[in-house]
Amino acid sequence: MKSSTPSSLPSGASAVRLEVLARVPAKPRLSIGDVLRSGVLPPLDRELILSHVTGLDRAGLYCYWERILTQKEQERFWELAKRRAAGEPLAYLTGQKEFMGLSFYVDRRVLIPRPETELLVERALELMGPDGVAVDVGTGSGAVAVSLARYCPGARVWATDVCSGALEVARANAARHGVAGRVVFLQGDLLDPLKGRLTEGAGVICANLPYIASEDMPSLPVQVRLYEPHLALDGGPGGLGHYERLVRQAPAFLKPGGRLLLEIGYDQARRALALFGAGWELRVEKDLAGLDRMIEARWKGGEALDGGAAVAGE
Ligand SMILES: C[S@@+](CC[C@H](N)C(=O)[O-])C[C@H]1O[C@@H](n2cnc3c(N)ncnc32)[C@H](O)[C@@H]1O
Repeated sequence: MKSSTPSSLPSGASAVRLEVLARVPAKPRLSIGDVLRSGVLPPLDRELILSHVTGLDRAGLYCYWERILTQKEQERFWELAKRRAAGEPLAYLTGQKEFMGLSFYVDRRVLIPRPETELLVERALELMGPDGVAVDVGTGSGAVAVSLARYCPGARVWATDVCSGALEVARANAARHGVAGRVVFLQGDLLDPLKGRLTEGAGVICANLPYIASEDMPSLPVQVRLYEPHLALDGGPGGLGHYERLVRQAPAFLKPGGRLLLEIGYDQARRALALFGAGWELRVEKDLAGLDRMIEARWKGGEALDGGAAVAGE
């Protein structure tokens, strides 16, 4: 998201070397070692793409240095290297991203899970207890919902997203990690799909909704702006419109003492805090880089109007 730091694009020099390699496939029998020492792309990208193409882990590549790539592997490596050189994120090329120590399937229907979002999951796990009920709003790849279910074996998790394609990815990830029976995925706006379904109060509602201000979208790094879904990034004017509505809805779905955890941009804490009115206890959590990253809001209880607590300033 806004203040995450996507890995750098291949340098101009690598792009030039890529051009050099364009002539290499004329050599019919390239070995793993030939590609590893070719200088195509930065070394980590080169290794990870080759690893993906061959099915060998990174150490395995060096064990099988002399192994000749099949024609198919060579062509696949070349295709992915070109896409990487053009700026496509590695995770979309390999179809996977690590999050909370788990491997998630990703494609261009979903935001690539970011390490800073682990803060949200770790805090939710601390709060949930052994058999908690949790909600993940804007589930995307399902990274948050699936991690909660996986690391809290008694948990029941509800997850929503407006995007049907994202929900397909999220369901696949729930099945991959053996938690499909404990995570309910529903399509719709924010908490609307839970009306009439989630009858007990949740202990935790997590949300990493789009929070980048529309006006900041043009200045996102190219590999985010051109490849990741804008539906997952663009939070509208000012960026906090989704959270403003969610803060109003949340009390109706939380038990007294339940928490609403919101991931925010590094410069949004003051404005995000102002979305909450009476009835909430608030704190701001920083990420490992020391930047404001999460609002933790404890619902003290009281009347949960459909629309929730009064919003400061209204
Ligand atoms: C920033 S991505 C987060 C994905 C995932 N939770 C993560 O942390 O990696 C935001 C997600 O919210 C979804 N979304 C956008 N607007 C929404 C809305 N009004 N209600 C529910 N989901 C929404 C997007 O489709 C996208 O999948």
